[in-house]
Amino acid sequence: METEIVSVDNDMDNSVSYQRAVDILKDGGVVAFPTETVYGLGALATDADAVQRIFEAKGRPSDNPLIVHIGKIEDVAQYAVDVPESAEDLMDAFWPGPLTLVFHKRPGVIAENVTPGFDTVGLRMPDHPVALQLLRTLDGPLAAPSANRSGKPSPTEAAHVLTDLNGRIPLIVDGGRTGVGVESTVLDMTANPPEILRPGGVTREMIAGVIGPVRAESKESGALDDEEAPRAPGMKYMHYAPESPLFVIQPDESAIREAVRQLHSEGKKVAVIGPDEFDIAEADWYFRVGPLHDNEAMAVNLYGAIRQCDLTDADLILAAGTDHEGVGAAVMNRLLKAADGKRFDG
Ligand code: TXA
Ligand code: MG
Repeated sequence: METEIVSVDNDMDNSVSYQRAVDILKDGGVVAFPTETVYGLGALATDADAVQRIFEAKGRPSDNPLIVHIGKIEDVAQYAVDVPESAEDLMDAFWPGPLTLVFHKRPGVIAENVTPGFDTVGLRMPDHPVALQLLRTLDGPLAAPSANRSGKPSPTEAAHVLTDLNGRIPLIVDGGRTGVGVESTVLDMTANPPEILRPGGVTREMIAGVIGPVRAESKESGALDDEEAPRAPGMKYMHYAPESPLFVIQPDESAIREAVRQLHSEGKKVAVIGPDEFDIAEADWYFRVGPLHDNEAMAVNLYGAIRQCDLTDADLILAAGTDHEGVGAAVMNRLLKAADGKRFDG
């Protein structure tokens, strides 16, 4: 299969491109498209054969449920039941935006394989003009996981999608780089109090500010114990894994220099992911992720930096961590996942 890329990242009339995407989707195909978080790989959520193509293209385990993207808040009632008032408040506050809400699903509407074995469904209205225009033109729900091959970092630009899925999908709608850079917050509204299953762009503090108490994973480590039964099934798979082992290290210039020296003495080539200001001349590669302590910039740039490390022949990656302020909690969650929980301490 030839993968076509259409760019809608300009001022032209793009209606032909949207129609092309919608034709493919209505015909049971899959299309990659930008959201404000990461690129998604969409299929019509009411068409089980189409949804099956997502799992095939990604190489994704088919027991991991997909998020359903909708174009307007009113659509929630078509796919979910028992929607609490607190959820309405969250939608008013954060939709469109990087917040996925898990509800009891309305039986018989969304294809069974979107949420295999679950009686819940995760819904989100993305805050991206291209995603919203696509949803409006389609006039239907889009099941869409991140548009990476399973086990790769989520794509934050069309080129990342092409790297992973070239020849496996018919179309990529290119809307430029995504804004947030890490995936949406997944909040289980069927739990009481609601529970954050995956931290993301909408923080625990922001949610608590609207609805009061929320539960969140107590551990910051992305490496889950085997015996722990994670409620967001996606959390049980090794995710965002770079090709070389990645270690999280303190965001301290001299500590990183020292670490690189030590690794060099062991004959290892080292790629470093860190803030713009650091000058680690010893590093074999240095990939910048924005100003020190700027967690939003780090979210935007992290996955791209991990992908760049994959293009080197580094034996090992050191990635400077950050605090949990704002989107920092999500950034550290993903970084520790990529590290499989490993921290470099000499
Ligand atoms: O920002 C995002 O959420 C992106 C963009 C494309 O919207 N999508 C995304 O999808 O990250 P995916 O499939 O890569 O991650 C979905 C996560 C998984 O961890 C999955 O287990 C969880 O959401 N999830 C989905 N539906 C669920 C449900 N009904 N109950 C519990 N967890 C659910
Ligand atoms: Mg994903």
